[in-house]
Amino acid sequence: MSTNYLEHLFGLDGQTAVVIGGAGVLGGALCAGLVEAGAHVVVADVTDDCCKMRVKALEELGGKASFCTVDVTSRKSIENLLSESLKVSGRTEILVNCAGVNAGTSFLDATDADWDRVLTINLRGVFQACQIFARHMVEKGGGAIVNIGSVTSHLPLSRVFAYSASKAGVLNLTRNIAQEFGTQGVRANVICPGFFPAEQNRRLLDQTRIDNIMHGTPMRRFGEAEELVGALLLLVSPRAGSFITGTHINVDGGFTAAWF
Ligand SMILES: NC(=O)c1ccc[n+]([C@@H]2O[C@H](COP(=O)([O-])OP(=O)(O)OC[C@H]3O[C@@H](n4cnc5c(N)ncnc54)[C@H](O)[C@@H]3O)[C@@H](O)[C@H]2O)c1
Repeated sequence: MSTNYLEHLFGLDGQTAVVIGGAGVLGGALCAGLVEAGAHVVVADVTDDCCKMRVKALEELGGKASFCTVDVTSRKSIENLLSESLKVSGRTEILVNCAGVNAGTSFLDATDADWDRVLTINLRGVFQACQIFARHMVEKGGGAIVNIGSVTSHLPLSRVFAYSASKAGVLNLTRNIAQEFGTQGVRANVICPGFFPAEQNRRLLDQTRIDNIMHGTPMRRFGEAEELVGALLLLVSPRAGSFITGTHINVDGGFTAAWF
């Protein structure tokens, strides 16, 4: 197969991509995939330090990257992120919403504060970022949004009630956004990762939970963050993904297909 053909299908030269949560474990792999495909990536995360480390890693790959701190609990902060991203080329074609937090307790121990924190970051943050960037994308004639869901977008998972509700909301919201902008060139899709050891879930992964996850995952292993990149490049590509909107790709080793 010719490299030119693959570049034509999946190449992102000249495009600007904002990755919110780009300093995290999964966000970092997604940023790397986007710069390898030729996009300029704006890493967006909560602190200067974590963003700078990610930009340095992307530049070491030979990629084009910059950063802007953001707190998705603040609409103003997301508006500032859009403005900063426009300094790259005047247009932002790709938005990836990959910020997320978790809180693991039994149902009766879950607090209102946990519920509010998880729903505010994981769902309201995605709503606000999609709204702010979609308005810009419509003005510029199109763009691609990829929101990071979870297997909990489909299945409730014990001990993560607020998280499961937030990720079910992300999938539903994304379908609605796809419907809203179907004729305006803005596509919106979800990637639903299975289990990937990372910062936000490390505390939750005790041996019993690991055993349960392995039992429920036909491939009997955790995912590697890089294994999300293929799905991302398909969904953001204006050529390979041109007729794909309002759907999701599970990257979960078969977890959502299995019924034991
Ligand atoms: N790791 C997994 O197994 C897994 C599975 C399914 C879905 N996910 C989702 O993937 C995404 C990335 O998670 P991860 O596992 O890489 O965890 P992570 O903790 O490494 O990354 C999450 C990132 O979100 C950022 N963030 C948190 N609050 C923020 C805020 N208010 N504003 C902006 N950024 C904020 C954090 O600083 C961090 O860099 C999350 O949405 C998570 O729910 C992860």
